[in-house]
Amino acid sequence: MTHVHGPVLGMPELDAPHADMLSRADDLAAAMRSRQARKAILILDGLVEATALHFAYEEEWMDKTAYPDRVVHRTAHDLFLQDLHTSGLELRASGVTPRVLDWACGRLQTWLRFHMEKNDRPLARHLERTEQKRRGAPTLHRS
Ligand SMILES: [Fe+2]
Repeated sequence: MTHVHGPVLGMPELDAPHADMLSRADDLAAAMRSRQARKAILILDGLVEATALHFAYEEEWMDKTAYPDRVVHRTAHDLFLQDLHTSGLELRASGVTPRVLDWACGRLQTWLRFHMEKNDRPLARHLERTEQKRRGAPTLHRS
């Protein structure tokens, strides 16, 4: 797996899955560019699974810590998962169309980095503050 740079939030519980998602997105764009539809479908399926799992993790912590922006953040997650689903259907039905190629090389990449910077960075700061307040209670493990 290649290393793809994205925003580093200083919290391994978020940074590790984010790096994995960016790497999968990069692999997806590469498969699309070389018009390997079957490979792209497999990579996209893996990205959907990894993304759904990580979003559920973030949403669990937003709920547990009563994060003030959790509705907005969760809505962003839902829209992105819908976007992945729509492009997956198109890829399966029609192969690497110009629209789905543009999406994989453009909006997908931009959205992930934008979301990590604008939504996940404030969440990381909130979780850090919450952890400090609840020192001693079961919480996120820092390495
Ligand atoms: Fe998020």
